[in-house]
Amino acid sequence: MLGVNMRDLAIDRFLTLAEAALARCTGPAKDLAQTVITRWQSPAPATEAAATLPVCAHLPPPQTDLALAFAALAPRLTWARRGSATPDQAYYDSHANAVILGPKGLEPRDDLWIGATVMAPGTLYPDHSHAPAEVYIPLTAGEWWNTDMPWTDPGLDGFIYNPPGITHAMRAGAGAFLALWFLPL
Ligand SMILES: [Fe+2]
Repeated sequence: MLGVNMRDLAIDRFLTLAEAALARCTGPAKDLAQTVITRWQSPAPATEAAATLPVCAHLPPPQTDLALAFAALAPRLTWARRGSATPDQAYYDSHANAVILGPKGLEPRDDLWIGATVMAPGTLYPDHSHAPAEVYIPLTAGEWWNTDMPWTDPGLDGFIYNPPGITHAMRAGAGAFLALWFLPL
């Protein structure tokens, strides 16, 4: 049993590599990354409540060290459709989200939100918005859009920043899509 001030090695490894990936952020994304990193320095106990969906079969082979660390956590996560998704929407059965650190996450807490989205090839995750700003770190190819930015694939060394409240979307190309998102709450 781990003490409350310790994380298991798999979560710790993931966060170490996430911090390294967030170091690529610039401008307002850099401030967001620093805020999130500072908050996660205080660990919270993990809660194991794994759940999967058929779309998780599309979780791709890891292409980066961060993706490899994420793959070690993926089976422990609660994979679920976006709360507002309805069966008549094209992406209903071809996307899933999971929270790693944050509300209802593997490490439940209410001061930040670190999660992942997987999508089958060709899936569009429709327009949405939320009050907190957000940084995405891609773990595969994929494209992002917001009202200030044309469709963009930042590459495996890149990032996407969505300002607070902006309407944004993302889509998979010919391959499966996997990306991490980071938001201060
Ligand atoms: Fe978002």
